[in-house]
Amino acid sequence: RQALYGRREGGIGYEVKEMTAEKQITGFTHLKDESHKIPEKKYEYVFDKSQKVEFSMDGDDEEIEDAEKFRLEAKIAQEEARVKSIEQTRKSLPVYKYRNQLIDAVKKYPVLIVVGETGSGKTTQLPQYLYEAGFAKGLRIGCTQPRRVAATAVAVRVADEVGTKLGDRVGYSVRFDDKTTDKTVIKYMTDGMLLREFMSDPDLSGYSVMMVDEAHERTLHTDILLGLLKEISTQRADFRLLISSATMDAEKFSAYFNDAPIFNIPGRRFPVAIHYTMQPEANYLHAATTTVFQIHLSQGPGDILVFLTGQDEIETMATNLRNTAEKLAGQMPLELIVCPIYANLPPEKQKLIFAPTPKKSRKVVLATNIAETSLTINGIAYVVDSGFVKEDIYSPATGMQALTVVPCSHASADQRAGRAGRTGPGKCFRLYTKWAFSHEMPASSTPEILRANLSGVVLQMMSLGISDLIHFDFLDAPAPEALIKALEQLYALGALNEKGELTRVGRMMADLPCDPMLAKCLITGGDLKCCKEVISVVAMLEESGALFYKGAEEAANSVEKFRSRSKAKLGGDHLTLLEIWQEFVEAGFSVQWCRDNYLQYRSLNRARNVRNQLEKLCRRLGLEEGEEESGKIEDEDDKDRKRIRVMKSITSGFFSNAAKLSRSGESYQTLKKHQSVWIHPSSALFKMKPPVRLVIYNELVLTSKEFMRNCMPITEKWLKEYAPHYYGRSRE
Ligand code: CDP
Ligand code: MG
Repeated sequence: RQALYGRREGGIGYEVKEMTAEKQITGFTHLKDESHKIPEKKYEYVFDKSQKVEFSMDGDDEEIEDAEKFRLEAKIAQEEARVKSIEQTRKSLPVYKYRNQLIDAVKKYPVLIVVGETGSGKTTQLPQYLYEAGFAKGLRIGCTQPRRVAATAVAVRVADEVGTKLGDRVGYSVRFDDKTTDKTVIKYMTDGMLLREFMSDPDLSGYSVMMVDEAHERTLHTDILLGLLKEISTQRADFRLLISSATMDAEKFSAYFNDAPIFNIPGRRFPVAIHYTMQPEANYLHAATTTVFQIHLSQGPGDILVFLTGQDEIETMATNLRNTAEKLAGQMPLELIVCPIYANLPPEKQKLIFAPTPKKSRKVVLATNIAETSLTINGIAYVVDSGFVKEDIYSPATGMQALTVVPCSHASADQRAGRAGRTGPGKCFRLYTKWAFSHEMPASSTPEILRANLSGVVLQMMSLGISDLIHFDFLDAPAPEALIKALEQLYALGALNEKGELTRVGRMMADLPCDPMLAKCLITGGDLKCCKEVISVVAMLEESGALFYKGAEEAANSVEKFRSRSKAKLGGDHLTLLEIWQEFVEAGFSVQWCRDNYLQYRSLNRARNVRNQLEKLCRRLGLEEGEEESGKIEDEDDKDRKRIRVMKSITSGFFSNAAKLSRSGESYQTLKKHQSVWIHPSSALFKMKPPVRLVIYNELVLTSKEFMRNCMPITEKWLKEYAPHYYGRSRE
């Protein structure tokens, strides 16, 4: 700023017009006549965070030269200001006081448990401290996160603090998105990605330090990593392992790592007043919206954080809030800024939640449990807690897995409330009764390893050469039945032989970064010479929930058109997705085409990215060999034959999700365990006349009923062909 103002004598004047965390717009005026009156002519500089300076002006050479000098000085000043403010912020974090003690502890102990209040600086600072203290030693410092949003958001932040471009010294790696280079020293990644890295580097020889962050979340991948990393820390004397966790569970981690020391970072926490509802809320989304406006209209300054269960809810509530805010515009003392956050949100928008709230406004952040401990948003004074969380619950008894909204635990509810007390005393509004809290909500949530389908990790462990799963050093060992179920499923998919050894197909499946069932579809697609199409279906399945703009009647019509062109009566949702993809390709990935068809360009673009990466991997495995070059004109018969092959490929992976029409003609029953399931209203096969007799589904969603989402008609013949040992002899 000094430099900016210093050139008045030189005949150049300027004023800072706007300064936000994102950019600094400096208007400057030429004042050569020394009159100090602001003339008409104005030039604008826009500095953005990447330090690019946009500049445009017209004038004589001398003016331009002056301006050029000015520009450089301004840039230097801006950089100095940035570094200073980053330094100040870093020094203000609770963890800073313990910097040297932490470094000494890491030198001394091969495994260290670090415990600290959320927001104390563990995730962003510890890897930097170790880097600054020379722990990298030419290798990398890694840090795992359970969620991809956290991994990417933190990497962006730390790259900024270190003053490097993302992917240079600081980078991240999440599934289908790798922002690292040879230069990367500090690497943030999802726990799943690190597990994958073990396959190519079983000793983690590329890392000198690994920090397993958010260990208390006890995700499936984190739990497996703990076992693998424990082994490495006994083998590699130079390796350093940090386990970082919110306040709970530290003793358990310490005991597991042979009484590793616990380093406590005392955090600051202000009191939070807890309010319960008097009656149970029938609709927490509605209650949350009302509560936000009550806070907004009656409470003092401070931002609001709302905990919901998923993207759909977050989007719905964001729309509700914006609509109501528009109606109340005249009556609100402060403007309401609605900031949703979820994994599929584009990074520029994700960043908004961290931007300081402008004066005369209030921010309301809508998040899932990601904001419990993984992401800290400054300035929150009010928390609105739905009391629910979405979990992928698997039952080994029925072999069914369903996305289910369940009450969150006391530990989660307390973490959520705590978010309101970081900068001052806060308030937490729980949208449930006190009675429900003590009687309906569990004290702590069950680690994922005790409730998840284990076939994916079992396959990965086997491909790492760990065959004695029963004796693997788990923090919490899964039930033997769950392991057996996983082995059975892998056997049925052809990944294991009768002796329980990994087959060629199994090894290929382990190389593909997706669920074993999807991996099997891709491999069969290779055998049936329709791998390209199966890749498209797999990539599109991930986006299937957010393809069309919601609500509009035109969108519903557009869906119908794709369904009729893809002969959805015969091919169901999977082939509709394929049709959409293929037309998107034909339209040259056009944004306008998406708009015309009420499709979300962003979703399709993400599918395109995932597809590209999957295709590379499939090619490496030789799965696409001999497939005709795209561009060759196929006639209708060719297309129909290919459709059948694609459907067979999908059946080969998803046969265990087969269900047949029940006698009533309304619901379906799973073939294996005779559980009742229903076709999801969003499916092409919903209420079809006559109803399809036999279907397989991609996933089960448990709301009012067990709904099958993304369904495809199949024939019994295909089941016999692709799952002879699964459906061949009927034992039940
Ligand atoms: O890991 P821990 O919860 O201990 O804290 P952290 O994530 O390292 O956060 C330290 C500080 O950095 C907090 O004040 C965050 O709000 C801030 N931060 C941020 O402003 N933007 C991010 N993308 C991440 C963190
Ligand atoms: Mg953290």
